[in-house]
Amino acid sequence: MKSMGVNEIREKFLSFFESKGCLRLGSFPLIPKNDASLLLINSGMAPMKPWFQNPETAPKRRVTTCQKCIRTGDIENVGKTARHGTFFEMLGNFSFGDYFKKEATAWAWEFFTKVMEIPQERLWISVYEEDDEARDIWVNEVGVDPTHIVKLGKEDNFWEHGTGPCGPCSEIYFDRGEEYGCGEPGCGVGCECDRFMEVWNLVFTQFDKDEDGNYNRLPNPNIDTGMGLERLAVVMQGVDNLFEIDTVQDVMKHICRIANIEYKKDDKKDVSLRVITDHIRSTVMMVSDGVIPSNEGRGYVLRRLLRRAARHGKLLGINKQFLFEVADTVIDCSKGAYQELEEKRDYIRNIIKKEEERFDATIDNGLNVLNGYIEAAQKEGRKELTGKEAFKLHDTYGFPVDLTIEMAEEKGLEVDVDGFNKAMQEQKDTARDARTEGSSWDGNETFEFENAEPTVFVGYDTLETDAKVVGIVVEDEGVCDTIIENQKGFIVTDKTPFYAEMGGQVGDIGTITINGKAANVVNTTKTEDGYYLHETEVQLTPIKVGDTVTMSVDKVHRTDVCRNHTATHILDKALRDVLGSHVAQAGSLVESDRLRFDFSHFEAMTTEQIKQAEAIVNEKILESIDVTVQELPIEEAKKLGAIALFGEKYGDVVRVVSVGDYSVEFCGGTHLTNTAQCGLFKIISESGVAAGVRRIEAVTGKGVLEYINNSDRLIEKTAAALKINQINEIDHKAESVMAQCRELEKAVDSFKEKMAAAKANNIMTGIKHIGEISLITAQVDGMGADEMKSMADKIKAEVPNSVAVMGAETDGKITFVAMASKEAVKLGVHCGKIIKDITAVAGGRGGGKPDMAQGGGSDASKIDDALAKVDEIVAEQIK
Ligand code: ALA
Repeated sequence: MKSMGVNEIREKFLSFFESKGCLRLGSFPLIPKNDASLLLINSGMAPMKPWFQNPETAPKRRVTTCQKCIRTGDIENVGKTARHGTFFEMLGNFSFGDYFKKEATAWAWEFFTKVMEIPQERLWISVYEEDDEARDIWVNEVGVDPTHIVKLGKEDNFWEHGTGPCGPCSEIYFDRGEEYGCGEPGCGVGCECDRFMEVWNLVFTQFDKDEDGNYNRLPNPNIDTGMGLERLAVVMQGVDNLFEIDTVQDVMKHICRIANIEYKKDDKKDVSLRVITDHIRSTVMMVSDGVIPSNEGRGYVLRRLLRRAARHGKLLGINKQFLFEVADTVIDCSKGAYQELEEKRDYIRNIIKKEEERFDATIDNGLNVLNGYIEAAQKEGRKELTGKEAFKLHDTYGFPVDLTIEMAEEKGLEVDVDGFNKAMQEQKDTARDARTEGSSWDGNETFEFENAEPTVFVGYDTLETDAKVVGIVVEDEGVCDTIIENQKGFIVTDKTPFYAEMGGQVGDIGTITINGKAANVVNTTKTEDGYYLHETEVQLTPIKVGDTVTMSVDKVHRTDVCRNHTATHILDKALRDVLGSHVAQAGSLVESDRLRFDFSHFEAMTTEQIKQAEAIVNEKILESIDVTVQELPIEEAKKLGAIALFGEKYGDVVRVVSVGDYSVEFCGGTHLTNTAQCGLFKIISESGVAAGVRRIEAVTGKGVLEYINNSDRLIEKTAAALKINQINEIDHKAESVMAQCRELEKAVDSFKEKMAAAKANNIMTGIKHIGEISLITAQVDGMGADEMKSMADKIKAEVPNSVAVMGAETDGKITFVAMASKEAVKLGVHCGKIIKDITAVAGGRGGGKPDMAQGGGSDASKIDDALAKVDEIVAEQIK
């Protein structure tokens, strides 16, 4: 085995599968598209689910990728062990109803033994205990030593992820040698120890699991394989773990240079080095795919990873922002495979640096408090900071306890870690109790603001107003009189132009200004008591109850939201026009960059129906219809035919939004004044969310422009790949390339046939006569079993009393075929027995019927010896 770099391995894998007819695609972005079940892409197949379900939608039935993946389930262990990581690249090859088990196994074996040149005795296979077919193929077709195959249960060898495509799998393990083993008597594949490393998972996706847990056989079984690139690199580079492979080492060395330390000199520092190395890899990839740090969802995962890395930087004594610099090395190592890294280098550095700055600001606040605690302790003659103090630092100032310990240590003090853990546990318990009482910190909590009336909303008519502050909530402290610099919290005013998240429409963003300094409002929600909570991110100047402030809504954001809200109303009606009056809104989400509309309908919409609905909405936009709002007694509104949401409670007076006389709905949201302001409307996806509920995602205005730009980029890339200059030739060119491929395939097939015929004629010149039998033996390397059989048929047809025995090494696989004519069988020839004896010579096995048999071998150098034995065997059989 020759050592190989990560980038070389990746390329070898992808080009190997290209040679097997797979279409090479770039990695999909880490943010899943139209898949609410997943926060981040975690395997090669995840972004291709629709192609497994509807193979005709795949760009080709055979695909290969190297997919960026994030798995954060084990984040706590990252760093502590050398085994865990959050980012990895998954190499995969996929068949959507095309090739199946035989090819997937044979190619995996070929790639390992021929391309990677891994000695086969170091490879082991596991198969699902009920999948005898897979075992047979491994033994008889691929020629794997049966003692290297083990059966495992559903836990290990059945791959499924919720509902959808799933199936039994077969895994390939690499034996790292006894020195990695536990030495226990039962140690083998499946053992917990480090000896047998699982490298490649071949999933035979033959079922579709439905909501009721039934495994329905797919009419077209698929292949989904996944192999961690880093793991394969560990094998190929003969190193101990993923932190020691070439590209990852480059990143770690950069951190070492900044911290002026060496890896493997100090266990504690090694933990920090591994944390930073892993986390900076994941964060660079996440940022390049459009995730930005926030307190929610993917953004929170990113923030957590970045802050954890920054914290470990401090533990290594790095007292500046440095992650954005290390990002450069991650980019340099991987830009060959992921072009977007180079394209977005400045952006990635910027986002990471900003988050580092934010974290530093938090830490700086905490530092003053910590110093205060230390002084107090010294004055009182204490040798210890209390658990409560450490907890307060952690909880309020985001100050990690290990940092507190280190800094206290420098001043000769210890920290009561038990007390800290206790305080932490108490907080968790309180939070849990609070949650079970249904009042967690999610915008639904009730706050008591003394003497404050519910907020008056003036945002239908205006986007800016002066208002009086009547309540303040500071994060982690609750209701206060003042909010100071750098704190986050909620500000409540007597009136507001900010729309609060409601009825599917997101809350407004904007600014609250006092004395010329603005705090950003990142979201607006409303409490049950009617107080509008303006969530502020970082306060630049103190604000206190009683102050007069200027409240300004971000107009661009608001208008984008309005576009999507008005479009949602038109879509609702358009769907009823196209699909029927059973369509009712089941939910909606109106954001600035897209809209999502869930509605009752029993089956997937056809492409034609989607186009129709889209066309109607655009028609209404181009007609530039006025959008009007009326406040009416509910009975009158009903007479107008206004659509109300099923199950929703309304007051006596309701707000009715009308798009001309086309759509009339009860609605409290904000809208355009004329449909033309939408610009254009484009449906991005239609999918099912539950039984009888469909979901449409769509964009308007700038979103459509972005969509078009993306499509253009894709077309340009395709045109470049097809090497054409005129974009409008693209379809013709693609068709002609496909036609050319078909021609070439045909030519290759007929060429092969001719070759086989010529070879057969050639071979027949070597007839040996044994008694009445005409025996032909030949080594025909390069031929597959089918070709060998058709050649034997030709011999049988032309030579009376014939027995033909052939052996071949083809694509790394050894195959023997024996065939005898009827007369020869009558004379006593038994092909099954011939094959049994001769495959044993070539280190394999096989057998079959008297007139036809087949087998495999493992030692190509013995094919000749094996065939030489045939004369003797036949002579014996006809005696
Ligand atoms: N999808 C399979 C896995 O992730 C290959 O293991």
